[in-house]
Amino acid sequence: MARTVIEPFRIKSVEPIRWTTRQEREDLLRAAHFNLFLLPAEDVLIDLLTDSGTGAMSTKQWAAIMEGDESYAGSKSYDHFRDSIQDIFGYRHVIPAHQGRAAERILFGVMCKKGDVVPNNTHFDTTRANVEFVGAEAVDLVIAEGKQPSLVHPFKGNMDVAALENLIQKVGRERIPLVMLTVTNNSGGGQPVSMENVRQVSEICQRHRIPLYFDACRFAENAYFIKLREPGFGSKSPKQIAQEMFRYGDGCTMSAKKDGMANIGGFLCTNNDLLAQQEKNLLILTEGYPTYGGLAGRDLEAIAVGIQEALHEDYLQYRIASTAYLGNHISENGVPIVQPPGGHAVYIDARAFLPHIPPDQFPGVALANELYLEGGIRSVEIGTLMFGAAARMDLVRLAIPRRVYTQSHIDYVVETILEVFKKRDQIQGLHLAYEAPFLRHFTARLEPMAHAAVNHR
Ligand code: F0G
Repeated sequence: MARTVIEPFRIKSVEPIRWTTRQEREDLLRAAHFNLFLLPAEDVLIDLLTDSGTGAMSTKQWAAIMEGDESYAGSKSYDHFRDSIQDIFGYRHVIPAHQGRAAERILFGVMCKKGDVVPNNTHFDTTRANVEFVGAEAVDLVIAEGKQPSLVHPFKGNMDVAALENLIQKVGRERIPLVMLTVTNNSGGGQPVSMENVRQVSEICQRHRIPLYFDACRFAENAYFIKLREPGFGSKSPKQIAQEMFRYGDGCTMSAKKDGMANIGGFLCTNNDLLAQQEKNLLILTEGYPTYGGLAGRDLEAIAVGIQEALHEDYLQYRIASTAYLGNHISENGVPIVQPPGGHAVYIDARAFLPHIPPDQFPGVALANELYLEGGIRSVEIGTLMFGAAARMDLVRLAIPRRVYTQSHIDYVVETILEVFKKRDQIQGLHLAYEAPFLRHFTARLEPMAHAAVNHR
């Protein structure tokens, strides 16, 4: 019999989490204008808002932090950081940045100009915003299977290579300064990209002399999915798989807040000497000197250790198993989710969960709020509030912080979701009371529809 996959660590330091009553949560949610972003984190019992920067560090990382060299220039912590990254990624230049979006801003600032086009399997929202900020167009080319929530496919993050060829024919290679692949595809459900797809995309890029960059945030989870699902990779280590994948590219952006296992940090890599020089010049302007790039020496040390730990096979086995555990348990009980469960998160299909709430009444927000009221769980809407009427789906993402919650926490989350599922007919939609001109989901204020009816009387 297969044994239970256990957490491959024991707990040395604990952080209490705080219970609230249903009445308190009702008051807190009202005070937060029915927007979970506006809630004080200490009033959340289990926080699944994001897996970014929320992980627990290991004893080795904390020990490395004490070794942090805080020298302004030439810090030895930078050498540790660069060597550890080069060992996995293999790129010639490693440029630290305070987080992923800082690396994106510098990359697109140097490589793109107005009128350019950047293809990606699916741009994450900060990636898209940084492409558009320099006047270029961000185009998403994920395969058709990647757009159907209930469809099971092993590599739903793959890029549609025929669509990439067509785009290059249509706009011309001069207008495409780079192609990007996001591993795993966060906006598409945390779904992986296969090595075969990486090879095909790389071959097309080489033929047209277009550089290929990875948005590498969750590269270790992607490598493990390749090991599990792609023929020929079962006996390779996640590190060997990651090394192979990065050889097909020319560079990457990375948020070390994900598979860097750190609470802050990121980096930019490239094999191009000229670009690296330009990137460092921009870096000095806003991030800092190229041996620290907006990070403390201790942060560089934590990342140097964390990025290797993210590739440990027992960790990845537990990581992918615990996300699947949550996804499969709720799915077996009828809850509609994006199939199969992703690496870092489970995405509930809120339109299918709450068919009586039309998209313009924010079914994803309604469901996320109900999970908080029922059990003190915080999740995030990825749908009409985030993207406006253009949203193709209304999803609720349950992102799992790395090495933070145990199986009983996840059991509690499953129970809460199933309780809410039983009462789904009673859940109401919401309407907007205030919205900012851009990125409105962070600060929006909402009201339940019933209140609106009362107010109109
Ligand atoms: N790319 C992807 C695929 C991401 O998921 C993120 C962040 C970034 C880039 C930007 O990195 O936050 O360090 O600036 N995703 C977080 C999330 C915020 O909740 O999914 P950052």
